[in-house]
Amino acid sequence: MIAIASDHAGRVLKLDIMKLLDSLGLPYEDFGCHSDDSCDYPQFAVAAATAVSDGRCERGLLFCGTGIGISIAANKVKGIRCACCSDVYSAILSREHNDANMLALGARVVGAGLAEKIVREWLSASIDDKNPRHLKRIGQIAALEC
Ligand code: RB5
Repeated sequence: MIAIASDHAGRVLKLDIMKLLDSLGLPYEDFGCHSDDSCDYPQFAVAAATAVSDGRCERGLLFCGTGIGISIAANKVKGIRCACCSDVYSAILSREHNDANMLALGARVVGAGLAEKIVREWLSASIDDKNPRHLKRIGQIAALEC
């Protein structure tokens, strides 16, 4: 199950990516928002991030205007490693090196075509667990959490 959420600025891109997930047969849960009215992204980020953190969802996709605010909010939730990406290379490396469990995209930064490519590649990539230095560093990040 993939957790997804957005604010008003990211909602249209979120709907595009929901269609992509439908076409790939990947189940998801939408934690809001559900209208184009201006709203505050932290509440939606935390709802989706908590679902990833507690294991109800394996990964999460977040959308706001830049991807930045919603990723910052998600990263406050214990166990969340949310990468804000606007290129395919960073998205893949966020999985391979950082084991990112959430991806944030900016609807005012990337178009729908690039966003779909980024999401496809991110979902296909996985942690390079043959390389202990990545696991060690991820462990060091986890140790920073209270
Ligand atoms: C909303 O105007 C915008 O500030 C928000 O979507 C996001 O870009 C914040 O980081």
